[in-house]
Amino acid sequence: MTSCTELWVDKSDFRKTRVVTDELRGVEEGEILVAIDKFGLTANNVTYAVMGDAIGYWKFYPAPDNWGKVTVWGCANVIESRCKDIEVGERLYGFFSMSSHAILQPGKIRRDNFRDIAPHRKELPGSALYSNYRRTQREPEIVQQFENERCLLFPLMATGYVLYDYLVDNDCFGAKQIIIGSVSSKTGFSLATLLHDDPLVSAKVIGLTSERNKGFVEALGCCDQIVIYGSESGIAPDLPAAYIDMAGDAKLTQTLHNHLRDNMVESAMVGASHWEDGGSMGELPGAKPTLFFAPAQIAKRDKEWGAGELTAKAMQATMTISERAKRHMQIEWSLGAEAVQQSWHNLLDNKVPGSTGIMASLLAQQE
Ligand SMILES: NC(=O)c1ccc[n+]([C@@H]2O[C@H](COP(=O)([O-])OP(=O)(O)OC[C@H]3O[C@@H](n4cnc5c(N)ncnc54)[C@H](OP(=O)(O)O)[C@@H]3O)[C@@H](O)[C@H]2O)c1
Repeated sequence: MTSCTELWVDKSDFRKTRVVTDELRGVEEGEILVAIDKFGLTANNVTYAVMGDAIGYWKFYPAPDNWGKVTVWGCANVIESRCKDIEVGERLYGFFSMSSHAILQPGKIRRDNFRDIAPHRKELPGSALYSNYRRTQREPEIVQQFENERCLLFPLMATGYVLYDYLVDNDCFGAKQIIIGSVSSKTGFSLATLLHDDPLVSAKVIGLTSERNKGFVEALGCCDQIVIYGSESGIAPDLPAAYIDMAGDAKLTQTLHNHLRDNMVESAMVGASHWEDGGSMGELPGAKPTLFFAPAQIAKRDKEWGAGELTAKAMQATMTISERAKRHMQIEWSLGAEAVQQSWHNLLDNKVPGSTGIMASLLAQQE
């Protein structure tokens, strides 16, 4: 029997948490048991909880009663296999929960990936992304070396890349300034970096952030102008603007739309790092704020460029941007249940500066 440690979160009160250590059920025919030795923790994982019911993230790793298992991106070793095509010792990257172990049911097994085809996942959204597990030893050596970056940065920087591609693909909607909300987030600064570095993008890159993250954003050198929350009047109201919002702060969106009025030519809702500041925005002047749907842009490019081409470019961009950003960032390891629990609370309470990346493990507790 394998003892499994997990961090559960109350679905109605994310600050209420519970560490659960229990014996795992036996591995059945066709299944594998994996030990998750690392995963990344960022504001994106808080958003997975916020959107747990609306999008269905809670359903990937079900928990009893009103408890939820927050999903994370991590790496794991196969420690037991009753699946003839997956061997013990294989290394995996994919979508797990804050847990030391998981049982998966591999299907559609290919050389370098498989799908978890467990029955409860059948109806879940985005299975091509969230139920796809990479068999990383089959990948190029160079990709294998970026394991921490992959857990902590890739899901976010890949979105940054897709957003960049979406803007470029649409001639930036005619905007002369691109405003990025929560620019100190990994998703935000990767988008800013890509736009800022592209000589073909003439629009000014404006990053919105809080006072305490200003220094970090300055050091990254990815913005033409940094605007602190509350000082939005410093943005030129007479130039067409696109707002790419990682903050999800309803009042901030209202302020920007009312300031730019018809000059707000695009308004994309991407994230909610300010997860407690959402809410109704009412009718706003300018372009209607619209939920950004990354899979639509990926599908478009897969058709135009060939399947997987956009993802490969995003991976390359992640390696380049993270190599540069690393000089200004620290990775902090949260090892064991108490530390992971504390990090979860720190994320909720905005106590993790943009310059810090949290890597976590619940396996450590047990070793
Ligand atoms: N739609 C998609 O496909 C998609 C994909 C990836 C990410 N996203 C979203 O983009 C957002 C950023 O994700 P990330 O993982 O890149 O973030 P991250 O790097 O963890 O972001 C850190 C920054 O977010 C702000 N922040 C974090 N926690 C906060 C809190 N409790 N209250 C207020 N501000 C807080 C702060 O920035 P400032 O001071 O600069 O505001 C902080 O520096 C998330 O909401 C995520 O879900 C969406």
